[in-house]
Amino acid sequence: MPAAKKTKTEIVRVKLGKRSYDIVIGENLLADAGRRIAKLKPGTAVAIVTDGNVAHHHLATLERSLEAAKISYRSVLLSAGEGTKNYSNLETVAEAILQSRIERGDLVVALGGGVIGDLAGFAASVVRRGVDFAQIPTTLLAQVDSSVGGKTGINSPQGKNLIGAFHQPTLVLADLKTLDTLPAREFRAGYAEVAKYGLINDAKFFEWLEKNWREVFAGGAARAKAVATSCKAKAAIVGRDERETGERALLNLGHTFGHALEAATGYSDRLLHGEGVALGMVLAFKLSAKLKLCKPTDVTRVIKHLENAGLPVRLSQVPGSLPGPDGLLSLMAQDKKVVRGKLVFILAKGIGKAFIAKNVDTKDVREVLNGALAE
Ligand code: NAD
Ligand code: GLY
Repeated sequence: MPAAKKTKTEIVRVKLGKRSYDIVIGENLLADAGRRIAKLKPGTAVAIVTDGNVAHHHLATLERSLEAAKISYRSVLLSAGEGTKNYSNLETVAEAILQSRIERGDLVVALGGGVIGDLAGFAASVVRRGVDFAQIPTTLLAQVDSSVGGKTGINSPQGKNLIGAFHQPTLVLADLKTLDTLPAREFRAGYAEVAKYGLINDAKFFEWLEKNWREVFAGGAARAKAVATSCKAKAAIVGRDERETGERALLNLGHTFGHALEAATGYSDRLLHGEGVALGMVLAFKLSAKLKLCKPTDVTRVIKHLENAGLPVRLSQVPGSLPGPDGLLSLMAQDKKVVRGKLVFILAKGIGKAFIAKNVDTKDVREVLNGALAE
């Protein structure tokens, strides 16, 4: 068999003045991470934060590359899963960073998915009032979304991501090859965030995904294109609205419903974050159609594509029982997308035409939930 063509490395710049940074997207970047880090921060020491699954597959490669670049490091291993994003692990990571004698000019490296990136980034934001950090995302979700844009944080018993800070990374290394060890269900969940960029403001990208999603799942050039297009879309929005005073809220398409469903399922593997986003995007399009903002055929297209990609599109696909409409509404009220008691939703006037809708009537949301729960 002829050797597969090497995927070209692409660099997407997140333009934020002094806090600007590169997202490097390509294959086998992990083995080269030490060289890139030494070039960016000569003389730095590193604290790696990762989880057991990622460590099993990828930690040794990163450690060897740091050794080759003569960078001293210490690795902190946490349990995998959403439950790790808690106060207790914040303390564990912060203390480990301090014990590693990491100074402000040194580097915390988050090696893992969104859970590790959010937690390690938040710890880096508070230790010594802010230490630099790099993201080495190893899930599709983290490569296209959570590693970019500087949102860091942990969950509170009151809700998801309620404790956090904006803290931009100084470098993002998205090694596409690390995705080869990702369980298929996790890849699918991350794919929901890829589709999200098409649905927000890029109808052509959504159309391309409808035709090429199998190639994206298979790897190679299509996967590289999907990750780079997603990162460019997010970098552009973050560059214009770093602190989510406006446009950045569009990135929350599907998240108000999704976060309520994640809370209702106890942030467990009954529903992964990306699966909640997929269901949330379907509900957001159903709500948009109910309000006659988009066509019913747009809803059908969204459902068909996500379903083809193996994502849940009906609430009955979530294992176990769910609260009724009022229970889900009260979970939504705790989400950050609530302004003075009114629900703020990202709705759509069509594929690629998402917008921020303030003052959404709970009556309409309840009706959409009622219908979806009965399906
Ligand atoms: P995750 O970090 O829990 O990773 C998913 C699972 O895959 C874990 O079990 C992990 O150990 C495993 N894993 C990771 N990389 C692997 C690899 N290469 N090979 C084998 N196993 C691997 O979940 P996620 O989906 O990456 O991230 C979800 C989190 O991201 C949520 O907490 C969500 O709130 C957060 N998030 C944050 C932002 C942001 O802007 N900060 C955006 C979206 C999501
Ligand atoms: N994932 C939403 C954001 O980064 O704003």
